[in-house]
Amino acid sequence: MKKIGIMTTGGDCSGLNTAVQRLYRAASLRGWRVFGILDGTDGLCTTPPKVIEFNEETLPIESARLAGSFLHNGHANALNFETAVEHGKIEKFNQKLRESLLELKLDAIVLIGGNGSLSLAWCNKEIYNGLQLVCIPKTIDMDIPLTDKTIGFDTAVQQLTSFCDQLMMTARSHHRWFVVQTMGRDCGQLALNAGIAIGANAILIPEIKFDTDSLISHIKKSFIDYGIILVSEGISLRGHSGRPADMISRKLTAAGIVNRTAFPEHTQRAGDTVASDRILATRMADCAINAIENNETYVMTAIKDSKCITVGLNEFFNAGEISDDPRIPGVQTSDAFVSPENPLLQIAVNMGIYIGETK
Ligand code: F6P
Repeated sequence: MKKIGIMTTGGDCSGLNTAVQRLYRAASLRGWRVFGILDGTDGLCTTPPKVIEFNEETLPIESARLAGSFLHNGHANALNFETAVEHGKIEKFNQKLRESLLELKLDAIVLIGGNGSLSLAWCNKEIYNGLQLVCIPKTIDMDIPLTDKTIGFDTAVQQLTSFCDQLMMTARSHHRWFVVQTMGRDCGQLALNAGIAIGANAILIPEIKFDTDSLISHIKKSFIDYGIILVSEGISLRGHSGRPADMISRKLTAAGIVNRTAFPEHTQRAGDTVASDRILATRMADCAINAIENNETYVMTAIKDSKCITVGLNEFFNAGEISDDPRIPGVQTSDAFVSPENPLLQIAVNMGIYIGETK
């Protein structure tokens, strides 16, 4: 009988609980014991490690749709890979994680994490020697290379869409514009997809250079005098510091365009998990359990050409490099960022959405 552990690390997003519940279901049907590590690596640093054993009641099926992580994602100021490096304690930290994993006598661990967590798992891979490590990619940023989908993204797009839908009524009532700042770090996928969904008037993302004067003239030429300008948190404006939405708002005000800013913040990571994320979480959980059964290790589940497969963590790590984009001077790129060939960009242009200087 196998013993497997599950942990959720990095920022939360909706869909984590579905993945955890489905992992438990698939593993228990094989007669395996399933343990949840609480608080991610934080829980492994505690003596004894913070662990619960799953049973049918631990995470009831009706709760698997809820946002957040039933296993928690760790405390704000906890010792983690980054702070351990900062304080010169990485060897001690890694040793403690390894000891805890040995103490738990796990055969495999499923790590549900984002870009940072998966990269750190690969860079500190010796911690997992002797047990199987299978990762499941989750993030609202959708910035993980080698997979077409990440758990949490679709729900975040829905959350952002609903947030903007609400603002649109006030925008119309007051003949005013809302500059909405989205999450997404350096990746514009979330803003681009939600922007198309709501019919934004403009979408500014880090991957595409934009010109403020062109944006202003686009808004002024608009058929209507209200709407939404979506601004991804990763954009920058030469000579300006502070929140990107504030910078854009000030420019619009100076040009006589009445506007307000709005910040959906962590509501983008909340909300009941939408059906497509639940299906994705189920597919990835199934794939992860099959991978454990097939003795795979140091792999990540991924969606490629509509199929759920595993890819090596080494491949993921090598593909994730962020470099200067040779096609656009001054802009950085990675395999996971919005590429200039993304069909949604041209569709946005065709729909009269200002998306930046795409040509
Ligand atoms: O990576 C997910 C994410 O939500 C980003 O989009 C955002 O920049 C960041 O995490 C916010 O992190 P925190 O919850 O620490 O404020």
